[in-house]
Amino acid sequence: PNKILQDTHGRAHNYLRISITEYCNLRCTYCMPAEGISLTPKPHLMTADEIVSIAQTFVNLGVTKIRLTGGEPLVRKDAKDVIARLGKLGVELTITTNGILVDDFIDTFKEAGITGLNVSIDSLVKEKFNLITRRNYFDQFWKNLNLLEEQNFKLRLNVVVMKGFNDNEILDFIELTKDRNIMIRFIEFMPFDGNKWNKDKLVSYAEIINQTHDKYGITKVERLIDKPNDTAKNHKIAGYKGSFSVISSVTNPFCSTCNRIRLTADGKLKNCLFSNTETSLLETLRSGESIEPLLAQNIQSKHAMRGGMDDDAKFQNPDLFSKNRSMIKIGG
Ligand code: GTP
Ligand code: 5AD
Ligand code: SF4
Repeated sequence: PNKILQDTHGRAHNYLRISITEYCNLRCTYCMPAEGISLTPKPHLMTADEIVSIAQTFVNLGVTKIRLTGGEPLVRKDAKDVIARLGKLGVELTITTNGILVDDFIDTFKEAGITGLNVSIDSLVKEKFNLITRRNYFDQFWKNLNLLEEQNFKLRLNVVVMKGFNDNEILDFIELTKDRNIMIRFIEFMPFDGNKWNKDKLVSYAEIINQTHDKYGITKVERLIDKPNDTAKNHKIAGYKGSFSVISSVTNPFCSTCNRIRLTADGKLKNCLFSNTETSLLETLRSGESIEPLLAQNIQSKHAMRGGMDDDAKFQNPDLFSKNRSMIKIGG
């Protein structure tokens, strides 16, 4: 990529994650505070034209992959238009979604060249799924997941693991990969504003792998080769069709190979999931000036690790992580 996308730690940023809305049709407890969030007034949110224009600038500078996030990206009213237009930029396009609305998007995805989706599901038990999402969409979720599978999308299921809530379902999730060619991704629970994170709720990479060793035996748990810049440590059970992995941002951060930059729904660049220094692009874009100097500045200020919260004491300090956004306003 172009020098503008290179940071002072030698990392080239070729992956843009765009949040296209702050809204969501679910209310997951680990993602947003119970009292809700203050939504950005509409005039301060990016229009479809602005999203496409900023994305185009990034593609011109060397971005090769765009992931749409939210909130829930598919609740955006003009989501189909945004997806169709980004699909024409000629780079890999993909989405992280809760799956509730995907049945209405199958053709849109295909026409935009989307071949795989990351879909969130934190429990296989209806009551628990409804408890964590604070809504009642369990059956709709499964109907849609089956539909995506029938339509041959490559599926990766995101499971945020929380002690005492769903850590007893880890092996049940892995059993889904016995006959289905899907990937289950267990995610270590991360601290964000308003999500009541504490260390006791964390289930670590090591604990997850230990559970699989106890059940299947060490030699049956195969370690697969990870792709460059992968967030996940990939594994599979010998003989199973699908695979599973662990995203261990807390116990094994992957910052040294980070290639990601984020654009929030209100048009701010965020150079790290955990950084609270943001650069607004919207005023400059709206005034017709080039946004490139702002991009450069934002990327140059990127810390080596976790927005500067490199040691665990800082990372896990509620006074510090509450200064960041809630996950729902970052997009993951
Ligand atoms: P790929 O684009 O295929 O690499 O998927 P992904 O894992 O990056 O995306 P997804 O949106 O499915 O996110 C899965 C989990 O990884 C979520 O918990 C994200 O918050 C987390 N994640 C994604 N990107 C980053 C990152 O840059 N840093 C950290 N620490 N976590 C991330
Ligand atoms: N810790 C880890 N992962 C999270 N996600 C949302 N909040 C958190 C958190 N606190 C995940 C969602 C979704 C992805 C974008 O981020 O489950 O799959
Ligand atoms: Fe990149 Fe920040 Fe995630 Fe580390 S924590 S991988 S620097 S976005």
